[in-house]
Amino acid sequence: MTTETARAATSATRAPVWHHHDVLDLDDFAVDEIETVLQLADRMREVLDRRIARVPALRGYTVVNLFYEPSTRTRASFELAGKVLGADVISVTASTSSVVKGESLIDTVRTLRAMRADAIVMRHAMAGATYLAAEHTDASIINAGDGAHAHPTQALLDLYTMRRHVGDLRGKRVVMVGDIAHSRVARSDLWGLTAMGADVVVCGPPTLLPRGLRAADRPAHAEAALPPVTIEIDLDRALAGADVVMALRLQSERQEGGLLPSLHEYAQLYQVTEQRLARAKPNCLLMHPGPKNEGIEIAGSVAAGRNSIIEEQVTNGVAVRMALLYLLSGRTESPGGGAGGAPAVEVRP
Ligand code: NCD
Repeated sequence: MTTETARAATSATRAPVWHHHDVLDLDDFAVDEIETVLQLADRMREVLDRRIARVPALRGYTVVNLFYEPSTRTRASFELAGKVLGADVISVTASTSSVVKGESLIDTVRTLRAMRADAIVMRHAMAGATYLAAEHTDASIINAGDGAHAHPTQALLDLYTMRRHVGDLRGKRVVMVGDIAHSRVARSDLWGLTAMGADVVVCGPPTLLPRGLRAADRPAHAEAALPPVTIEIDLDRALAGADVVMALRLQSERQEGGLLPSLHEYAQLYQVTEQRLARAKPNCLLMHPGPKNEGIEIAGSVAAGRNSIIEEQVTNGVAVRMALLYLLSGRTESPGGGAGGAPAVEVRP
């Protein structure tokens, strides 16, 4: 299916649904809300691709990037997304802020709100930090990654990118391979993909698969920690008939020692190579959230090969974040800037 037909197949007109004040993870997103983001992202892609002067949809709206962990693409992506829509955007890096003088997370967030920040995009090494922030401010908190827990905007851009190519995700075999246990991208992707009906397979060595994925690991009374997926230890078996393959980096900054006998052995068993990819469907999409370590989880030739849509993920990330900022702002005028632009979007509370 071409990108155009895939898009036509999935963008039937429907009333947008949006209830969120914060974006913390996808586990509390209804399918209708995910649809709202994906459809608005299509319009934002048009705005982005037209490369015209900035549209004023978010004039007077202030976005602060508050990053306690390194980032290249997520931070730049939010900055661009806000700027393209005319918002005021500033970035605060924790290593150069008053955090180093002992200011607490809650104080920092309150200080930014006192300067009239409308949205705070936050990345933090502790799982749950963004939830704590959201409890202490009425600015919208967007989770740009909290520990190994969640990265919802990456998941939305992944869903959007898949949809542009394969259309409806129901029944599509999506294989995630690598360090699932320490990956916030994987966790949020699992919620989003299962909500959209994809058939998700996670693959990696048992030490890098999270507990709680297997139904047998869960106490009978417990809420599911993660949605149900297929677990496959053997990459060749996992890849058979795949529509999408996503390779994930070894998150060594979050791993304890002793999880892998050797990097060399890991690469031999779990690297996505051309030979292995041949087991997937011929037009299988090859994705990676970045940053990638070529030669470990992915071969350089595959990352740059014909199936790869890794760079498109990055471009789409800007459009998806534009859509999210716009929805959180509660504005309803046309994000396309009037005549000839994208049609107005109505957002119902
Ligand atoms: C990821 C992250 O920071 O969670 N990167 C990203 O945001 N695109 C994945 C990673 O660090 O491996």
